[in-house]
Amino acid sequence: MRILGKQFVLGETIQGALDNAAPDMREGYRFSFDMLGECARTARDADRYFRRYTEAASAIATWAGAPEARTEDALHARSGLSVKLSALHPRYAASQEARLARELIPRLRNLALQMRDAWLPLTVDAEEAERLALSLSMLEPLLADPALSGWNGLGIAVQAYSKRALPLIAWLARVAEETGRRIPVRLVKGAYWDSEIKWAQEAGLAGYPVFTRKVNTDVAYLAAARALLVRPDCFYPQFATHNAHTIAAVADLAGDGPYEFQRLHGMGQGVHRAVVEDLKKPCRIYAPVGGHRDLLAYLVRRLLENGANTSFVHRLADDEAPIAAIIADPVEKAARLPEKANPAIPAPPDLYGGARRNSLGLPLWDEATRASLLDGIGRALEQPATAAPIVCGNEIETGPVTQVTSPHDGRVVVGTCRDADSAAIDAALEAAGRGAQDWDGLGGAARASILDRAAELFEAARPDLMRCWYARPERRWPMPRATCARRSTSCATTRRKHAPSSRTR
Ligand code: FAD
Ligand code: 2OP
Repeated sequence: MRILGKQFVLGETIQGALDNAAPDMREGYRFSFDMLGECARTARDADRYFRRYTEAASAIATWAGAPEARTEDALHARSGLSVKLSALHPRYAASQEARLARELIPRLRNLALQMRDAWLPLTVDAEEAERLALSLSMLEPLLADPALSGWNGLGIAVQAYSKRALPLIAWLARVAEETGRRIPVRLVKGAYWDSEIKWAQEAGLAGYPVFTRKVNTDVAYLAAARALLVRPDCFYPQFATHNAHTIAAVADLAGDGPYEFQRLHGMGQGVHRAVVEDLKKPCRIYAPVGGHRDLLAYLVRRLLENGANTSFVHRLADDEAPIAAIIADPVEKAARLPEKANPAIPAPPDLYGGARRNSLGLPLWDEATRASLLDGIGRALEQPATAAPIVCGNEIETGPVTQVTSPHDGRVVVGTCRDADSAAIDAALEAAGRGAQDWDGLGGAARASILDRAAELFEAARPDLMRCWYARPERRWPMPRATCARRSTSCATTRRKHAPSSRTR
């Protein structure tokens, strides 16, 4: 950890980091300091991280002094801060959007005001795919906030490996048009690839939120770069990559407009020296700052990306890899692929091959999923739910009927249930005894396919079976917490995909 920390972290404190940054700053590099910390687990963690960000903002402001002029060019030439929203609140999850609007947005706003006053840039890092929409709902009010107008320093990182990168850029362009802002956009490929693949499999999503071939991400990066560069009225583009081909392709696309390149501290020094000296383009260094206890998640991401055999820096260091292959045009490579998705990474439902289908998860962080589930539940609620024992296919019509109430609100009746009386129980036991021989005689495969069919019916009837969770249609939130559990690389919480454990039939 110490060795890795030395390589990838600029300093334990902001003061130490500013001292260590001084030689590079003298050579014209700008910095974006990130006070390491993410995925706050407790309010105390979040307070600590927030305090660090505000102290860092003051230290950078003091170090930078007053700007020569409060112009956009001067703003972008200065060092600033990068912030991970997951560090600022312990419940940074889609299910908490209303609470985050009350508690997280004001924090981010305070930080933004501090940066605006000191004329320094502030970038919101891109984190997990499931938090993308949430991060936008935190950012959007600030982009429209009149108190921050005139300061085009509030930026966001966009991940090219995300299948939503281009729609996101279109959305940002619309916000820029509506608010009259020019938004700094840091274009990255994305640092959570391995985790996104595993989470999508674990959650049983219909597809992956990210591309499954490296070359597709490289192509998407260029498409996203073009989408940023054609809207200089909306964006100040910041190209964050260590890949020499990507840098060269972007420089070729970009022409003379204002933009910058970025690299991570401890990576890409050689190629970015060429950016500054040969391309004569500005380069910003993203510099993590912090102590060992907050380093792990960041360092694991650096290890994973540098260790991957598809990574540019890894291939460059490999003496056996032919240079022509390393710098091959990704667009040509992708065009030649007969299958665009990676056949070695089956879609989450096909994870177990032909043997069995993966169970379908419910990505409740996705608004479209929530809307269609809630619609289905709303429709189910129009019919009263009744349950009764069924023996040999026949509904039993004797026995006491009781009302069933919602597990989260005992005042709400969600249906009725006829309990089995002793005659029904005897009949069921006798039928089960008679049927056991036939069931055994079917053999494993036939029994398994009956169980599979039952599972599919459960999945198809999900809104109907979940109506008890949502007995009052006017309540949009909260959804069941277990399926909304929040994760990050540093805090792998176990996600449970399960049916509600209520008594309600
Ligand atoms: P390359 O080797 O060309 O690309 C590696 C990248 O390709 C991987 O990181 C991954 O995104 C992608 N990839 C690898 N395998 C596959 C595959 N099988 N299918 C599809 N795609 C694949 N990342 C964030 O997520 N959020 C941030 O806020 C962020 N900020 C950054 C700031 C700076 C200044 C820099 C330089 C990077 C930042 N990153 C961030 C990290 C970035 O996303 C990349 O992980 C890193 O830069 C490696 O990409 P590359 O272009 O340098 O290298
Ligand atoms: C990460 O934290 C650099 O934001 C990027 O991995």
